[in-house]
Amino acid sequence: MPVLVVVGAQWGDEGKGAMVDMLAQEADIVVRFQGGANAGHTVIYRGQPLALHLIPAGITHEHTVCVLGNGVVIDPKALLEEMEKLRSLGIHVSPDRLKISDRAHLTLPYHRILDAAREMAGSRLRLGTTRRGVGPTYVDKVDRVGVRVGDLQHPERLREKLQINFEHKRAFFNALPPEERPDFNAILDEILSYAEVLRPYIADTVTWLNQQADAGKRILLEGAQGTGLDVDFGTYPFVTSSNTTAGGACTGSGLPPTKITEVLGITKAYTTRVGEGPFPTELQGSLAVHLREKGREYGATTGRPRRCGWFDAVLVRYAVMVNGCTALALTKLDVLSGYPEVKVCVAYRFRGDTLTTFPAEVCVLGEVEPVYETLPGWDEPLSHCRSWSQLPSHAQRFVERVRELVGTPIAMVSVGPEREAVLSVPNAPNLW
Ligand code: IMP
Repeated sequence: MPVLVVVGAQWGDEGKGAMVDMLAQEADIVVRFQGGANAGHTVIYRGQPLALHLIPAGITHEHTVCVLGNGVVIDPKALLEEMEKLRSLGIHVSPDRLKISDRAHLTLPYHRILDAAREMAGSRLRLGTTRRGVGPTYVDKVDRVGVRVGDLQHPERLREKLQINFEHKRAFFNALPPEERPDFNAILDEILSYAEVLRPYIADTVTWLNQQADAGKRILLEGAQGTGLDVDFGTYPFVTSSNTTAGGACTGSGLPPTKITEVLGITKAYTTRVGEGPFPTELQGSLAVHLREKGREYGATTGRPRRCGWFDAVLVRYAVMVNGCTALALTKLDVLSGYPEVKVCVAYRFRGDTLTTFPAEVCVLGEVEPVYETLPGWDEPLSHCRSWSQLPSHAQRFVERVRELVGTPIAMVSVGPEREAVLSVPNAPNLW
């Protein structure tokens, strides 16, 4: 009964999509368990990059069933557009291949307006969100005024729930210029039209997933974003509004902790972050520009340039602890070729003290100085390497040092976006 959780060990964009895509070759079921259309997973499909925002990366494999779990927030318009895009590429999307939890919450058209409003220039709450309405949808869920996917099955109930949700925001709507105020009937009609198409995909995925796990099916739980963006464990308030860590895989799917068999953390060989918030190893100047251009570090959802810096072992060690990672995958090692030396942050300096654990306060994290260990670099490009033994010795040494510093085995290393560019590390644990 292998149930494998894949989570980001940094601030998202670690390359989870490509890893899930590869692992999904051996999976029966792939589940998204949190987040919404804020995520951007890029996989290579027939030689072309394919960016997915809601649907699990497993969809390109004909034999897998994909699930949007109860912890996901679903923008029905974005979902239907994504389904259409996949169909236009010849990918089969039908109710026997895609199941949507009846307990998942819906992102409504005005959730994006609410998200944008708090992000307005000059706002003290500005976080650099993706403006996909994800935070406001989770706010409604916790405030118990959310509209759920299951409501799409009952038009009368949907009208009632939408009415409650709409009234709840009346003061905000009234403050908008009249021409920008959402119209209740127009929104209801829009959602009812989505309901018609989505109804066959709605299922009790909690029961179904548990039955499949009991039947011995191989289940892959695909996290979005990363540990540094977790609403509890990340750099609060500069986080997303869900639990991106392994615990979220249980609450967001209905599979209990006792059914999880492995947790794979994904980390880049360096660090990136999009949006606001502290980033101890962030680089400025030509080194940052070089990493960004070489690693093509631009957001898959918003196109924003990502902030770039050296590998932070304090952050990843913390991610290994919080997620209980049984193994790590180290991605984009090829991007570090060509530097005379490469750096790894092993601790933080804070007002004369040395910190080896990840602090809770962003004001502390914003002030710390990274303590670096310098390792010899390598000149050789790595993108052609197809096995561990083909990596230059200094690249192997970098991977081994990362393993020592974060205290968990590294199962795989990637040197390019293709499936063949994911190399197994000798003596690594078996994930499936
Ligand atoms: P939200 O999830 O749109 O509310 O954004 C909150 C924070 O999470 C912002 O800093 C975003 O840039 C970040 N974020 C959300 N989704 C992703 C992702 O898929 N990759 C990287 N950062 C993300």
